[in-house]
Amino acid sequence: MSFLSHDQTLPLGLDDNTLQRLTTGLNDQQLIWLSGYFYGRTAAGRGEVQSALQAQAAQPAAAARLTILYGSQTGNSKKVAQQTAEKAKQRGVQVTVQDVNDYATRSLKTEQQLLLVVSTQGEGEPPVAAEELHQFLLSNRAPKLPDLRYSVLALGDKSYLQFCQTGREFDERLAELGAQRLLERVECDVDYQEAAQTWADRVLEVIAAEANAGNAGSSHGPLTATETLVASAQEAYSHHNPFEATVLEKIQLNGRGSSKETYHIELSLADSGLHYEPGDALSVVPRNGEALVAEVLQAAHLDGAAPIQLSGVEFELGTALTQKLELSVLTRDVLERYAAAAPQHKPLADIVTDIPQLQQYVYGRDVADLLREFPAELSAEQLAAVLRPLPARAYSIASSLLVHPEEVHLTVGAVRYATHGRTKHGVCSSHLADRLAIDHTARVFVERNEYFKLPQDAATDIIMVGAGTGVAPFRAFVEERVELGAEGRNWLFFGNPNFTTDFLYQTEWLQHLKRGTLRHLDVAFSRDQAQKIYVQHRLLEKSRDVYGWLENGAHFYVCGDKARLGSAIQEALKQVVQQEAGCSAEDAADYLRALKKQRRYLEDVY
Ligand SMILES: Cc1cc2nc3c(=O)[nH]c(=O)nc-3n(C[C@H](O)[C@H](O)[C@H](O)COP(=O)(O)OP(=O)(O)OC[C@H]3O[C@@H](n4cnc5c(N)ncnc54)[C@H](O)[C@@H]3O)c2cc1C
Ligand SMILES: Cc1cc2nc3c(=O)[nH]c(=O)nc-3n(C[C@H](O)[C@H](O)[C@H](O)COP(=O)(O)O)c2cc1C
Repeated sequence: MSFLSHDQTLPLGLDDNTLQRLTTGLNDQQLIWLSGYFYGRTAAGRGEVQSALQAQAAQPAAAARLTILYGSQTGNSKKVAQQTAEKAKQRGVQVTVQDVNDYATRSLKTEQQLLLVVSTQGEGEPPVAAEELHQFLLSNRAPKLPDLRYSVLALGDKSYLQFCQTGREFDERLAELGAQRLLERVECDVDYQEAAQTWADRVLEVIAAEANAGNAGSSHGPLTATETLVASAQEAYSHHNPFEATVLEKIQLNGRGSSKETYHIELSLADSGLHYEPGDALSVVPRNGEALVAEVLQAAHLDGAAPIQLSGVEFELGTALTQKLELSVLTRDVLERYAAAAPQHKPLADIVTDIPQLQQYVYGRDVADLLREFPAELSAEQLAAVLRPLPARAYSIASSLLVHPEEVHLTVGAVRYATHGRTKHGVCSSHLADRLAIDHTARVFVERNEYFKLPQDAATDIIMVGAGTGVAPFRAFVEERVELGAEGRNWLFFGNPNFTTDFLYQTEWLQHLKRGTLRHLDVAFSRDQAQKIYVQHRLLEKSRDVYGWLENGAHFYVCGDKARLGSAIQEALKQVVQQEAGCSAEDAADYLRALKKQRRYLEDVY
């Protein structure tokens, strides 16, 4: 195939053979993308694309209107929706992009083309923003939607058993209501960017093809590659290209004899250009410990020097197990692939098809346990193909950049437990706790949390409820508010097992309290007395003031353990409202729902 038509000549120094060599192995889509990318980088490209976009903006809509909705907890779905909208605009499609939280459900009936980008939260639940639409669509009040064409992009994480559950539910329900798919649903794991971009390109191609078919005979010709494809600026650091941040400080925050092991870790961001806001998280790309890698190799009867390929790149098995593949956690997809590769184990096949059994099986087991309990003579290649890429772990940022320029601080709880005859260590927390010393580097990137943010109006009060490492973002919040001279009052509820050993950042909080930069501090040390006391009990004790602050417009934040904190705090808050407003349980639930909708009740639970 030649890239050149007869009347084309190549610029200085380029010939057809060179181009062939440079582009061997690329598929059509990649070639088209590159043509747009390089064109867009030239001055002419920048100018022409701009004028093409302006010209398109001035043209009347040629095709059906496109609405892109996103339901997002931390901003990933929002980012994808906005990128998709940008691509759609470049194709000349009339597009509206909207947070599903602000979407009037009655508008559904009038939609023609709908793209929905939605994550799954909790244990297979919709993000708060999408709760209302989800409830409405699944109810018997949902209208028939025979004129709607749609596609769902589901964001999720395969380490959760209900993988992409919300996206699935939306997709299946829309089909049940008579809507027709523009493209099959795509489900994305934590590394969602590539799959999301492919989904966006493919669904927009379908939309463009339909518009062009509908346009036959109109004055607008089909859209061309240069109009459609201009590369968006890549975010500098990511899972695949993390920043090497030097460890500046590492302090054990718990006192001797504590049941917890929590580290305050300070990292340098010097020369990275990385920026974050309080409420964002820092993702750390971990490595598996030597001991676990050795356990896995032994259980698999394999040699660490055996060569394998991952995505076309050659590794020694030992290196891949250390750096690239998840070993400390078992997920459904891994079990499914292993069961398929070892069909002789009938009990394993049964576990894989039964969610409650699966849930019980994976809890507290790792890859070495699986290999020992269900032995199979897999080759090194087969084992690598069964395992899952090692995901980064997120940590709430515990510092304000205003106070600590070019630094980021984390509060990391070491995960350690003993099950099935071995002591286990969480891969990332133990990487940070045990294997990273001062002056070593951690591989990191910033994970924005779009919604877990301080109020825009600095005069607004905030109530923060944090248990254990859940206090981390509140250190950043208070630092930032003090630095900005925010007038709003700050109130912290903090919980952990024991006062003497587990009062994280005690000196700092007491100083804030003394200076008035923390108006109230309420602590719950659960194990300091015979009867357990948790932060939710403290909230109830202070119900009058809590309600008063909320009525005065306060924002309410919760951070920490999902299982222990999430629903307990919501229940406590409903009781506070019921008691102080003298209303029914239903009205109190409505009050909480309204707070969520206004994004004044915000959770960062994990
Ligand atoms: C937005 C966000 C913010 C976060 N912020 C923080 C933070 O500020 N500080 C912090 O410390 N963490 C935080 N986390 C959690 C963090 O990302 C990791 O999940 C945590 O450090 C554990 O990861 P790991 O790699 O060490 O453990 P993994 O290797 O992932 O192992 C964890 C797994 O071990 C198993 N397990 C754990 N304990 C037991 C037990 N007792 N018995 C049996 N099995 C068990 C469970 O299956 C669990 O899923 C946050 C998470 C998110 C999503
Ligand atoms: C507390 C919590 C619970 C989650 N629960 C699930 C789940 O049940 N199923 C799933 O597939 N993904 C789950 N996820 C993963 C998210 O869907 C994933 O991180 C997604 O990229 C978030 O997108 P968003 O920022 O648009 O909300 C969960 C994430 C968190 C932090």
